[in-house]
This record gives sequence, structure tokens and C-alpha cells, in this order.
Amino acid sequence: MGFNVHIKNNVIYTTEVSNSFSNVYIKVRKKEQRILSDIEVVLLPHLGSKEWRLRKKSTNRFLAYLTSKKTSQKILDIGCGNGWFSNAMAQVSEKNKVTGLDINIEELEQAARVFKKENLQFIYADIFKVEEKFDQHYDIITLNASIQYFPDLEILFNILKTFLRSDGEIHIIDSPFYDSNQLTEAKKRTSHYYTQLGFPDMTNLYFHHSKDDISEFKKLYTSKKSLIRKLLGRKDSPFSWYCYTSI
Ligand SMILES: C[S@@+](CC[C@H](N)C(=O)[O-])C[C@H]1O[C@@H](n2cnc3c(N)ncnc32)[C@H](O)[C@@H]1O
Repeated sequence: MGFNVHIKNNVIYTTEVSNSFSNVYIKVRKKEQRILSDIEVVLLPHLGSKEWRLRKKSTNRFLAYLTSKKTSQKILDIGCGNGWFSNAMAQVSEKNKVTGLDINIEELEQAARVFKKENLQFIYADIFKVEEKFDQHYDIITLNASIQYFPDLEILFNILKTFLRSDGEIHIIDSPFYDSNQLTEAKKRTSHYYTQLGFPDMTNLYFHHSKDDISEFKKLYTSKKSLIRKLLGRKDSPFSWYCYTSI
């Protein structure tokens, strides 16, 4: 028998729930003070901290791009978390239809509680189990600060490509990619960071991806080299913006 799609606390459940990732993830994010109150979530990305000042830049760039689209867009926001970015995309035009997707129920419920719009919905889904339901459905798929939680980008992109209409696009925003000779050091830093934080298990749930993994993507914004960024006082996102367009 197939899965019984149902709604609970305004979140649509489309696949079986597994908490193996979110149990650890939510504890880590709480310790990092990155689980925000409803009032703070409404304000995003206008929070005023240094991190959010930089994220506002990449958000504005992407929203300007979305605004320039001549037709209404069906958008899937993978790893939407508390939903602020899905909501920002839904605000661009009420003709756009935005689906925020995640596997952490605490923030999905917050997203559904805080952002209520006709053209916006939040779903719980394991994307590796939903293929046929999403078949060639979307004009745009976004991964905003979420790609680092997917272990294998070839497997991820192969699935996401089946969700896209022809000429559909996958956008990766605010996400780190490394030169292959930087990967070992980056992994060590992450392991050290999570161990110090008291959550060594999180190291196994966070993945470092190489620039070679996104060779099919075009850069729509190139981050400045770190020296220039330092001289500029880090006025813009340290991450490039990548886009793949399907045939
Ligand atoms: C750092 S948050 C980013 C949230 C939001 N996109 C933003 O830009 O602020 C990463 C999100 O990815 C989600 N995530 C991790 N693995 C996932 C998966 N396999 N499927 C869907 N979401 C996932 C996490 O639960 C989390 O909410």
C-alpha cells in the first residue's frame, strides 16, 4: 500500500517520517542559537547580524532574477528550514507557486505557522522517495544553504533533474564548494568544530563538496577572493551562485 499523504499542523506529509537526521541537526542548531523565534523568522533576511547582512545580498540578487522572469514559476525550495526564503520567493509574484520542502519537522511547522499564503505550501518529503509525484513539475529548484547535508551530488542532481520541466533550473545559493586540494582541511575543521560543540555525530551528517561536483553549473555570481573580501570589509556573500539549466 502507498503512503497516506496527510496534513498535520499545516505541513503536508508526502513520505514516511524519519528523524535520524533532524534529531541531531535540531540539537546542533539550538546550541548554535540558529533556531529563531517566530518573530525573528518573519524578519528574515533583515536581521542585522553580519551573517544576515551578507545573506541579504545573495537573496536580493536571486529575487531580482526571479522578478525578471516573464512567466509564472513553479518553484521547489529544498531544505527550506523555517521557510523565510520560500516565503520571499512567493512574495515576488502571487502567480508563482512555491513549495518549501524539508525533513525537519520543528522548522517546517514553524514555516507553516509563520508564513501563510495561497501560493505557498510546506511539505515533509524524502526526495529520494517521491520521484513519480514530482515528475517534470518545476521551473525552478532552489538549494539555499542546504546542499552540504546531501552526501552525493551526482545522486541528488539525477533526482532533481527528473523534477524539472525542459528549460527548468536548479539554483545553489549561499553554499560552500571547495577546490579538491582544500577538502581534507575543510573536513578536519568541521569535525573539530562539531566535536568542540559537543556533537561529534554531526560530522557524519555534513558533507563537503568539490567545485568539480558542479561542473554542469554556470556561475551567475562569483564570490570575491578572500583577500579582496577582507579589503572590502566583507560586504557581500562569500559564496558564488550556481545555476544548472535542463535541456
Ligand atoms: C542551514 S538550513 C537552510 C535553511 C534555509 N534554506 C536557509 O537558507 O536559511 C538547511 C536545511 O536543510 C534541511 N535538510 C537537510 N537534509 C535534507 C534533506 N535530505 N531533504 C530536505 N531537507 C534537508 C535541514 O533540515 C535544514 O532545514
